Amino acid sequence: MACIYNPSVTSISTKLNFTSLPNHKPKFFCSLGGAVAEPKTINATEPLLLNAARGKEVERPPVWLMRQAGSYQTLCEKHPSFRERSENVDLVVEISLQPWEVFKPDGVILFSDILTPLTGMNIPFDIVKGKGPIIFDPIRTAADVEKVQEFTPDESVPYVGEALTILRKEVNNEAAVLGFVGAPFTLASYVVEGGSSKHFSKIKRLAFSEPKVLHALLQKFATSMAKYIQYQADKGAQAVQIFDSWATELSPVDFEEFSLPYLKLIVDTVKRTHPDLPLILYASGSGGLIERLPMTGVDVVSLDWTVDMAEGRRRLGPNVAVQGNVDPGVLFGSKEFITDRIKDTVRKAGKGKHILNLGHGIVVGTPEENVAHFFEVAKGLRY
Ligand code: CP3
Repeated sequence: MACIYNPSVTSISTKLNFTSLPNHKPKFFCSLGGAVAEPKTINATEPLLLNAARGKEVERPPVWLMRQAGSYQTLCEKHPSFRERSENVDLVVEISLQPWEVFKPDGVILFSDILTPLTGMNIPFDIVKGKGPIIFDPIRTAADVEKVQEFTPDESVPYVGEALTILRKEVNNEAAVLGFVGAPFTLASYVVEGGSSKHFSKIKRLAFSEPKVLHALLQKFATSMAKYIQYQADKGAQAVQIFDSWATELSPVDFEEFSLPYLKLIVDTVKRTHPDLPLILYASGSGGLIERLPMTGVDVVSLDWTVDMAEGRRRLGPNVAVQGNVDPGVLFGSKEFITDRIKDTVRKAGKGKHILNLGHGIVVGTPEENVAHFFEVAKGLRY
């Protein structure tokens, strides 16, 4: 698809207050199915999401959603194994592109899982419908940690690199292609607990009785995930999100010991080789840790909806961009309510350095027309 950035369109909609312009002219003119569009080709412009993440001037907040997949369920019936769906280049590309084709978000996230690298680290796992992740031989002793191998992405997950390269070509800078990894503490919580957990008692027993064993495991995940981010960037990812979903199960003092140093190690390592690659940190339920999250050195912190965006923005300080944080449940509301919440969130985040998103992924059963409305309103906003 041939597209061109049309800078003249930007100037018509510069507003001091937010104005929803659902019928605004598209910023990109694309030729669809061979029809000739004016003006002419080439898309060398940086995606909006990258500019916002880097704190550059943007006309509106970029928008994307997690689990934004459209006709995913149909594919699940045909390919019932999650590992098959996420480890086959064609399926990964197809699933990743579904939301892109339907909603044209500003970010297209790779279809994969934070657990995907585990087999390559000698930790066999599966993701079972109705049960979630299962680790066949949970890691709980020094000898278990010893058996964990450092991750070599191009040997273990070549399909991820191939899929990213294809996605980058398909999306052609009209949106940013996003890669992602799990953070060391969150990965450790799965492999120590043996799967999802409610009380995190097994990893806490390890942390609080044999911290050296857990630190050795976290170190392996940190060096491996740094390598994995570098690999994803080399293959086409233009920004990478780090999921530390369970770090917020830690009290702040334990976050400083078991999560923060490893996040920092990942960020420092990646910034040495890829200084311009925006890194986004996601931790749900992070209200008690907000001031500590920018200490990791990431470019963007993603907040969930339990934090007021204006307060979150203030508490993060001026040096990072913010992502989020509309309640995914809002998408079950009326269209008017959805519009109001989007505007409220964008106003509270302030001009620039904001990537509009939900505070977590789309919930199963969300009406697709409401997702479409979310994107339409968001893309019509102007600062
Ligand atoms: O947005 C996207 O579509 C990108 C793909 C993506 C998946 N998982 C696919 C997936 C992403 C970014 C993830 C991240 C992920 N995986 C996280 C961090 C985000 C968060 O939610 O906090 C975590 C903790 C995991 C681990 C994981 N994977 C769990 C707990 C589950 C079970 C969830 C459930 O609803 O059963 C998975 C499975 C999984 N990974 C699904 C998807 C779309 C749902 C099950 C399926 O599709 O078969």
